[in-house]
Amino acid sequence: MRRAAASEDVEIERLLKEEIERQCTTIQLIASENFTSPAVLRATASVLTNKYAEGYPGRRYYGGNAVVDQVEELARERAKALFHAEHANLQPHAGASANLAAYMALIQPGDTVLAMRLDQGGHLTHGSPVSITGQTYRFVAYGVTPATQDGSGERIDLDQLRDLAKKERPQLIVAGTTAYSRIIDPVPYREIADEVGAKFMFDAAHPAGLIAGGVHPSPVGIADVVTFTTHKTLRGPRGGAILCGTDLARSVDSAVFPGLQGGPLEHVIAAKAVAFFEASQPEFADYAAQVVLNAKALAAGLADQGFRLLSGGTENHQVLVDLRSFDPDLTGKQAQESLDRAGITCNRNQIPDDPRSPFVTSGLRLGTPAETTAGMGEAEMAEIARLIGTVLRSPEDDKVRAEVRAEVRDLCGRFSPYGAPDATGNYSGAPRCPAG
Ligand SMILES: Cc1ncc(COP(=O)(O)O)c(C=O)c1O
Repeated sequence: MRRAAASEDVEIERLLKEEIERQCTTIQLIASENFTSPAVLRATASVLTNKYAEGYPGRRYYGGNAVVDQVEELARERAKALFHAEHANLQPHAGASANLAAYMALIQPGDTVLAMRLDQGGHLTHGSPVSITGQTYRFVAYGVTPATQDGSGERIDLDQLRDLAKKERPQLIVAGTTAYSRIIDPVPYREIADEVGAKFMFDAAHPAGLIAGGVHPSPVGIADVVTFTTHKTLRGPRGGAILCGTDLARSVDSAVFPGLQGGPLEHVIAAKAVAFFEASQPEFADYAAQVVLNAKALAAGLADQGFRLLSGGTENHQVLVDLRSFDPDLTGKQAQESLDRAGITCNRNQIPDDPRSPFVTSGLRLGTPAETTAGMGEAEMAEIARLIGTVLRSPEDDKVRAEVRAEVRDLCGRFSPYGAPDATGNYSGAPRCPAG
């Protein structure tokens, strides 16, 4: 049977073109997204996707793995070298599956776990009742300190964590957040875990690239297990990973396969290897530092526009905005949709003790990893803050949105992640990022 050439699939070809145009002509401020390099894209699109490789290098259940074994071994060695870890498992398909595998390796169903509450910045896989994690283990939530006028509040409440640990005697304490703009120091977590005989897992999904780039402290060697995603600040393909000591290597590996998954995605593991290589280059440290400088500039610009920032600012790649003081009637949902129509992409987010539902919310989460990769700096962040203020002062005004859309188009034209389109509308340029 003759197979249709890829170019004959006109619907998907058209949608791929539309999506790259969207990414190159609108501003990407979703804190968990980035623009991968052409080398990462190439590996993700490679023939490795054809190969079944259940098992681990040297111990596979199918034949024909001579090349794939080298790919996965190289990826593991690069991950270990980058993060100074004794063992790496790169097979988790996503951050959620990495977390589930870590729980399986560390604790038993019904055990007690302390983790950050969802509306305080935690993740669904940290025990939400709608997640299998919350249905399998007994999660008890800790949160952040109350907001203060001077911005010194809304930090992880370590006193509350210690009190809860003493009261609940958990088997596991989880650090890590999805919406939190401060550095997370793993040391006090380790101390509290040791005080109550708990294990300690650090979910570094968000700061993995900042840790690799040396601008945030590393939890490796302090936490028993570190999980992370490869597609956020680390700028690799969509996927998950687990780091641990040699003592836990067997438990982690068997939790991933055969515990949770079947065949690994070797094309994605190859792309993870590329990302680890890129993150080990000196330029990546410059990139990570610039991500944080850009977030600080974006935060300062938004504060000037009259927005209240959670915790008063940022030390990482995120800025969390409480919309209520800017406009008590403006919801996160409305703000996100209005900005979307002006060409500024971000996501609504609950703020601590949010009176609105997770679908509506009173906050926005903005991040700088993607546009820093595209080459934007602090001046552009100040510009973007001004554009956000302009749109959200008149969220339903089509004329304002059209004017901002034109400015966004101009800005993105100067900082396109994949160059300019050719005559046929294809973008083939490389990202302008320092390590691109
Ligand atoms: C802290 C944290 N853990 C885990 C995940 C899950 O990652 P994934 O979406 O790849 O399953 C995320 C994703 O946003 C996250 O922020």
